[in-house]
Amino acid sequence: MSDLGLRHLYTGKVRDLYEVGDERLLMVASDRLSAFDVVMTEPIPEKGRVLTALTDYWTREFQSQFPSALLTCDPAEIDKSVPGFANELSLHGRTMLARRAEMLPLECIVRGRLAGQAFDEYVARGTVHGMAVTEGMRLTDPFPEPMFTPSTKETSGHDLNIDLDAAAAIVGRARLDEAQDLCLGLFVRAAAQCADAGLVLADTKFELGLVEGELVVCDEVLTPDSSRIWPADQVRSGETPPSFDKQPFRDWLNEQSWDHAPPPPHVPVEIVSITSARYVAAYERVTGRSLADWYGRGR
Ligand SMILES: Nc1ncnc2c1ncn2[C@@H]1O[C@H](COP(=O)(O)OP(=O)(O)OP(=O)(O)O)[C@@H](O)[C@H]1O
Ligand SMILES: [Mg+2]
Repeated sequence: MSDLGLRHLYTGKVRDLYEVGDERLLMVASDRLSAFDVVMTEPIPEKGRVLTALTDYWTREFQSQFPSALLTCDPAEIDKSVPGFANELSLHGRTMLARRAEMLPLECIVRGRLAGQAFDEYVARGTVHGMAVTEGMRLTDPFPEPMFTPSTKETSGHDLNIDLDAAAAIVGRARLDEAQDLCLGLFVRAAAQCADAGLVLADTKFELGLVEGELVVCDEVLTPDSSRIWPADQVRSGETPPSFDKQPFRDWLNEQSWDHAPPPPHVPVEIVSITSARYVAAYERVTGRSLADWYGRGR
């Protein structure tokens, strides 16, 4: 990115962030795939474009109701703020120009269905993020109402699931209530739209931040990395559905004898290819669009 004269700010597991003046960021989604907070050596073709295209899609769907940090993914528009970007073809389709936010130190998870870590906790203790829930639920069962279940955002190690009081102790009760309303509102609308497309939005994680004092949606929005999305006709109570997320990859990973510490195992080419197809399918099923029509190189 030195070609574009931008200062590198941060490299996360998936994204690279660059400064555009004081108030904006270029967020580049790579094809990196992580599991248990370890990044695999093999990239997943199309993943960065899928994450970016889905974030753009959802942000536009709800832009009148939900403020967002995202400004544009259009390379021609980005070029106006970052001269030379139009020529950087490898970045097209995977790059967002966003307003720089002061991030809320919470992962704002919303759960419509019992799955993942929430299921493990429920089986062990009968609670979800320490909160009481209906008895007798099985894997994939819907909660009576979607639950706002935040976690901490740890700089090292795994995020910790917490209850609402613990979250309020971190960001304040009023801010937490505001975050909860925003995230539940988004989730309910997105889940209804997914249902129309024959999909179940089981859960998702939002990241919120403050821009000029306003709480806005940041980062990725309703992507396969941040969400569990299931084909509705294949969801059975008590069974793991074939999700449009990293599940096929995770299943493969679970068969490897790996202690979840670096270095990660070598991901075989067929698993890379299944996973890539899965990401593309997620975009196409959710949006009804072809990824080939999105910015960037295409397949
Ligand atoms: N508008 C924004 N302003 C400032 N920071 C943002 C904004 N949107 C997203 N971020 C931050 O940018 C980073 C994106 O990088 P990435 O998605 O790779 O991180 P991650 O691997 O999920 O998490 P980690 O930050 O723990 O590495 C996150 O730390 C996220 O909180
Ligand atoms: Mg992230």
